[in-house]
Order: sequence, then C-alpha cells, then structure tokens
Amino acid sequence: MSATIVVGVQWGDEGKGKIVDMLAQSSHVVVRYSGGNNAGHSIMNEYGDFVLHLIPAGIFNSETHCFIERGVVIHPPSLVDEMRSLEKRHVSLRKLKINPCAHMVMPWHLLEDKGNEADGTIGTTLRGIGPCYQDKAGRWRALRIGDLLNKESFLHMLQEAYIQKKAEIWGRFPQNGNEFPNFESIRDSYMDAREILLPYVADTTMLIHRYMDAGKQILMEGAQGTLLDVDYGTYPYVTSSNTTSMAAVMLTGISPKDIERVIGVTKAYVTRVGRGPFPTEMNEADHWHIQNIGREFGATTGRPRRCGWLDLPLLAYAARVNHLTEIALTKLDILGTLQVVATCMSYGSKRHMLGALDIQNLEQAQPFYTSNVGWGNLEGIRFRDQLPEQALKYVRRIEDYVKVPVRYISIGGRREETISL
Ligand code: IMO
Ligand code: MG
Repeated sequence: MSATIVVGVQWGDEGKGKIVDMLAQSSHVVVRYSGGNNAGHSIMNEYGDFVLHLIPAGIFNSETHCFIERGVVIHPPSLVDEMRSLEKRHVSLRKLKINPCAHMVMPWHLLEDKGNEADGTIGTTLRGIGPCYQDKAGRWRALRIGDLLNKESFLHMLQEAYIQKKAEIWGRFPQNGNEFPNFESIRDSYMDAREILLPYVADTTMLIHRYMDAGKQILMEGAQGTLLDVDYGTYPYVTSSNTTSMAAVMLTGISPKDIERVIGVTKAYVTRVGRGPFPTEMNEADHWHIQNIGREFGATTGRPRRCGWLDLPLLAYAARVNHLTEIALTKLDILGTLQVVATCMSYGSKRHMLGALDIQNLEQAQPFYTSNVGWGNLEGIRFRDQLPEQALKYVRRIEDYVKVPVRYISIGGRREETISL
C-alpha cells in the first residue's frame, strides 16, 4: 500500500492538473484534499481540453475512483455545473464520491468575499473561499454536504443561517447588502443541487482506509500552492486553507508512514495571481513575452498572472516543508523561448535556508541571479538526454540546489508532452 501526493510548490497554477491526470492512469483513487473552486486545474487529453475546479483530475480515467474529501469547500451549484459539463462531454462520473463533512460555500460567502475585497486587499478569486473556511473554523452557521441528507433539518438550518447572515452582511457591507439573494432562490438552487449530489455522498475516508489496506495506489491532488498555504505561505497574501503535503495526510486520515512519494509541481518560472510579495517578478518585456507565449491568464478568473524567474531559495523552502521526494518541472518549453534565462540563487550575497520569518518579509528580499542562454524549441523531445545542453544545465541546477530529483519534465500541455525519468 502506498500513497503519492501531488502538491503545488509555488503560488498555484503550477500544472498539478496535468500531472494528476497522467498519474491517475496507474492510481486506484484520486483524492482532492483542500481548497474549493478557487482552483483551476487545466487538463488536455483524449477527451479534449478541460479546466476542473472541484472534481479531481483523475476523472478521465474510467477505472479510477475520485473523491472530494472533507477539507474541500464546495459551492454546490458550481459543482453541479462542473459535473454537467463533464457529462456532456462523455466523461463518466460513476466513480465520483463526496465526503459529507465537506463544508458548503453559501451565497453569503461570495458577498462577504466581495465586501472584504472592495479595495482588492488580497486579490482573491471572489469564490467565497475565505469566508467559508472562516465559518467552518468559527462553527457558526456553517453548513456541510452531509446536512443535505435530511431535507427538513437542512431547510431549518438554511433558514436560520440566512436570517443571521443577512443581518450580518447588511451591517458590515451596507453597499452590498441589497445584493443578498432572496431566501426562495437560495433554497431552490441548493435543493436542486441536493437532488443531484446526494447519490455521490459517501464516507470517503473509510473507503481510503479500506483501499490502503487492500494495497491500492492512492493519489492525493493538492490545490493552490505551498506559498499560498495559510500557515506556511506569504501570509496574509494566501488562501484560507492548508495546501501542503502535510494537509493531505491530515485531511484524508492516512498514516504519514504510508506516503511513498511527494511530487512537488513547479513551473520552470514562477507566476502569481493576486497581490503579495514576489521578489523575482520579471521586467516588463520578459513578463509580456512569458505571459503571452505561456498563456499566463487565470484558469478560474481569467486574470493575467504576474510572471517571474525561478526562485530557488523559495523552491528549496517548499521542498523542505512538503518533504518532497521528487519534482515535476512544467513549462520548460515556454521558458526556453527567452534569449536569456535568469534564476534566483539567493537573497543577499550568501545562500541561506529560508525560514518562516523570511517568507513573511519577502518584500525586502534582494534576489541574486545567475543566467543561462535560452534553449529554444523542445518539440518532439521524449527523453531527458535529448534535451539541449542549456536546458539540461537548468534542470541540473535545480536538482543540485534543492537536492530533490526532477522526475518529470513537461514540455507542452498534452499528456505525451512529458519526459518521465
Ligand atoms: P490552483 O489550484 C493560483 C490565490 C488568489 C489570491 C489568493 C487568495 O489552480 O493552483 P482565495 O480566492 O483562495 O481566497 O484567494 O490565492 N489563489 C490561487 N492562485 N492558483 C490557485 O489554485 C489559486 N487559488 C487561490 O489569486 O491571491
Ligand atoms: Mg490553476
């Protein structure tokens, strides 16, 4: 029995969807363990091109079970839309299951997110994620998927929450208060979602334990990235959940001893959506180039992503807090189209191990760079030793610095555009 965790090691959008879709082919179960529909996981395979927000990226493999675990926050109408759009494209949902302890994102969470973000403080995805986790931890008027099981008690809970949340939001954000939907429309949309979702509700934690005991391969799909983790990231410019590999252990109830592989997904450069420190942000010309060639626009919100050079001190930090056993390096093809490629080797003149306090103070960080010439086109390459010398040098530099082997190199969006080592 063994489990593999796929975790983002930057500020999200590293290419986790592609790696999970690929590894799902040899996994019995894929488990999405945290975040909500703030995530956007892009996948290109024989079914077409997709962006998944809540459904695990293992769904394209008809033999793989796909679980949405308790740590995920679910906006039921969005999940239903995602399910419908997959079914329309002939992707089977037969093996999808949802943990009843997962919390529901409610319409008032979206309004709270909007109210909090009136001046773009964090630059959230406005999907109500922070306010939902806040209510979960606050244990106040929070609603879970399992609450849908009993219709009468759910309607009662919904009404109570509606009254109190409406008063609260009117008080805090009078400018948004009149956008509060009426009770009937919320009730109808959640009751419609209830009909569709109930058949999928199951004790996924128990099933994971059973599959582990039977020696099956379990794959955990992370959302967001390490630097967006509420405890390990660049607080307060983070999401509201734990995103690291340790969260996968906690939120699926498996034993840390059963984790065999922790695959950290990183782009060959760095992107970030939303506000917050970003020491290696590129100059305008390089940024423009990468953004356009790499199509660096948010898969969830369409916002342009900020682009920067690979930051090895931050990658080493992420490798340490996730206990990576290997790295999946994505978009190496995109980076190589630049004439000169810079890599951040340290902050200040000496290398040192970044600690949590450095992460909080990245605004002051002074990156020191080393550079390569770009390696050009990587089309058609299938083996590591076919890579141009400059690209190989870049990969080796990462391995030497981070002390973790690069096991996969992605040189395009499709499954087959991956070099496995
Ligand atoms: P995937 O899974 C990139 C960012 C938002 C914002 C901050 C807080 O596709 O890698 P939130 O809506 O979570 O309260 O926003 O986190 N963010 C992401 N950035 N990829 C994601 O997910 C993200 N999920 C949240 O842009 O800066
Ligand atoms: Mg994404």
